[in-house]
Amino acid sequence: MTEDSQRNPDSTFLQGLFGLKDEVAVIVGGAGRIGRALCQALASAGANIAIVDMNGASAEQLATEINASGGENRAWAIPRDVSKADELADAVADVQRACGPPSILINSAQFRGTGFYSSSPENDQTEAWRQVIDVNLTAVFHTCQAFGKKMIENGQGKIINLASTYGVVSPDPRVYGDSGVNSPPAYGASKAAVIQLTRYLAVHWREHNIRVNCLVPGGVFDNQGDEFVREYERRTPLGRMAKAEDYQGAVLFMASSASDYMTGAAVTVDGGWTAW
Ligand SMILES: NC(=O)c1ccc[n+]([C@@H]2O[C@H](COP(=O)([O-])OP(=O)(O)OC[C@H]3O[C@@H](n4cnc5c(N)ncnc54)[C@H](O)[C@@H]3O)[C@@H](O)[C@H]2O)c1
Repeated sequence: MTEDSQRNPDSTFLQGLFGLKDEVAVIVGGAGRIGRALCQALASAGANIAIVDMNGASAEQLATEINASGGENRAWAIPRDVSKADELADAVADVQRACGPPSILINSAQFRGTGFYSSSPENDQTEAWRQVIDVNLTAVFHTCQAFGKKMIENGQGKIINLASTYGVVSPDPRVYGDSGVNSPPAYGASKAAVIQLTRYLAVHWREHNIRVNCLVPGGVFDNQGDEFVREYERRTPLGRMAKAEDYQGAVLFMASSASDYMTGAAVTVDGGWTAW
């Protein structure tokens, strides 16, 4: 690589590091707030995109937007609920049929149903606990297994799981107060487990040329109440909540050759929330 080509922003050097031409990226929960930004980033880098999401209408709309934005690569909506074994199997078959062998898997779905925010740990929350663990942990494992088998057959792959700062530290109740947006204990427990699952799979699938890493994001601004946002910002070293786009660079890094020597890592992008 010459110095000239390294200095040119369109160079083969940058394409070699971050380009995703001919890759097939499966983004589970791709129609969500962060998932959507990740689909757009990976599509811009040249990957074909399979948006696997139980919200079929949003997935279809996003696929249409990506396909209208030009480029040779394509996006497909795969409207499936990956917490159901038969639908996950269908999703794997759909991806194979529409796009070919998956080479990148991003797990970005989460449970946000009724009861999610009733978070006082002393209250009964048996049902919310089961649902959060089913989607945020068990379905992540099953999705890694199902698409991982295809990657093993194909001799390569990259998996990126979305964890959370609350898999590393507790939410601070002084920040959440009575805002009503504090996550329940099951959420942090599921995310801590995802970080560990990531390490386990990274070690056990190293010989199959599959790298497994996770992103540890901080909170995204989503029109939470003013007081909560003020408190969150005051507690964040970089002084603001995240935008979904703040996670595009780190995920592109983990999905591309730029991170060829990285596996089993938890990449924290949280405005410094966990730094103090
Ligand atoms: N938004 C944040 O502030 C934040 C902070 C830290 C971590 N995270 C994590 O990042 C990831 C993405 O967050 P987000 O804000 O984009 O979430 P979101 O709730 O906006 O989107 C989740 C998407 O997953 C889909 N989904 C849910 N269950 C599914 C299932 N069983 N099968 C298929 N699709 C399913 C939903 O339809 C939705 O489109 C999540 O894992 C979340 O826990 C988010």
